[in-house]
Amino acid sequence: MIFKILLSSLFLSFFAHAHAHEINMEDKNVEQIVKQRMSIMSKIKAYSQKMYPLTMSGEFEEIKQLNDELLHSAKEFKLLFPEGSQGGKASSLIWEDRETFELFHNNFISSIEDIGESINNEDSVSLVENFNIMSSNCGTCHKKFKN
Ligand code: HEC
Repeated sequence: MIFKILLSSLFLSFFAHAHAHEINMEDKNVEQIVKQRMSIMSKIKAYSQKMYPLTMSGEFEEIKQLNDELLHSAKEFKLLFPEGSQGGKASSLIWEDRETFELFHNNFISSIEDIGESINNEDSVSLVENFNIMSSNCGTCHKKFKN
């Protein structure tokens, strides 16, 4: 009998421990994901700020490099909202209305690709236009999906 109680309490404490451990791991992972998406967003901000004065400069090589970095970061950003990673300034609406979030994200990506087109064509007029469209996507998404 005593043996049985001992055994079951050992078993229970093992379980309690394993469970607590799992929860800690999850919290840590979510924290890391939130940190990562905030840091990517800061990069997105930095790239777009550097691009702005270049849009009218005719420095197509330089702006192309920045735009490629912007595109890369923007694509990466989308992967950082897995189920259960609510946190930071991300609105919980992202997980409730995934379809609209993806639509806004796709519009953002397309607008960056359009900038790439303008650069390839060395067309400053459409470059400025497309840069403005790209910038307007920041606010559209933040208004709905950022707290
Ligand atoms: C498709 C949606 C979407 C687009 C487009 C978008 N963002 Fe964000 N942004 C977010 C979300 C969501 C967060 C909050 C992330 C978090 O806290 O986990 C965020 C956070 C940020 C932050 C961090 C804010 C802080 O307080 O740390 C900055 C800066 C930022 N975005 C700038 C930009 C800029 C500049 C653009 C456009 C060039 C842009 N974002 C485009 C969704 C978007």
